[in-house]
Amino acid sequence: MNNKPIGIFDSGLGGLTVYKEIKNILPNENIIYFADTKRAPYGGKSKEELKVYSKDIIDFLLEQDVKIVVIGCNTISSNLYNYLKNDYKIPIFELMESAIEESLKFSKKGIGYFATSSNIKSGVFEKGIKKISSVEVFKKACPLFVPLIEEGFTDFKIVKPVIIHYLKNIEDNIDTLVMGCTHYPFLVDSIEKLVQNITIINPAKSAAIKIKNFIENSDILNTGKKEKNIFYTTGDNRKFEILAKKLIGEDCNVSTVVL
Ligand code: DGL
Repeated sequence: MNNKPIGIFDSGLGGLTVYKEIKNILPNENIIYFADTKRAPYGGKSKEELKVYSKDIIDFLLEQDVKIVVIGCNTISSNLYNYLKNDYKIPIFELMESAIEESLKFSKKGIGYFATSSNIKSGVFEKGIKKISSVEVFKKACPLFVPLIEEGFTDFKIVKPVIIHYLKNIEDNIDTLVMGCTHYPFLVDSIEKLVQNITIINPAKSAAIKIKNFIENSDILNTGKKEKNIFYTTGDNRKFEILAKKLIGEDCNVSTVVL
């Protein structure tokens, strides 16, 4: 048993899609969620900048005495997972492996991959698919999605033209569409209204199962009291609370911190 919390981080609200899956599957675990809202979006940042940001956050989470770290940000994972894993002793989890495995379970014709520019540039997803399969990948950087979500503009009417724009030229070639950025699952209902016969993949679901298996097999489940989950942002805490309520329906008590 280990009553320390699980630490999850992202540039902003996106990692809440990962938080939600982990919370559902591990309801008795205490969770600390960290959003680097002030420096978001990460999607167009250089690897060097991302290295500084992720180390700042992981160091902060270690100070909070977390037992594992979950990178709820695929921009960070696609660029720095191996580096971070080797640099820290604490177990660190990510979603890219699940994204690759899950899409191959469903795709026969072609995989659409929506992600941030920096994630696409890393080539990690495509290389991972090519290692095991000949299914073609149609990748698309979607830089407008994160700012829309961070401002709370997720309503169908507003996001519809943006989704149509990003689906153009790939829609006919794919049977599977991967949400390669943790913000994008907030748009799944809208995307579903605009596509037919395409399976949409949210890798957080299977990543959460892997995390649960690890926690159980390592005998570090929280067997003590379930505390309230804790939320930190480097940005406006009130704005985060309002948007978290809208996006995941939870009343989060968010504190602003300076890193
Ligand atoms: N949600 C993150 C990701 O999965 C970061 C997006 C961003 O800040 O641009 O890539």
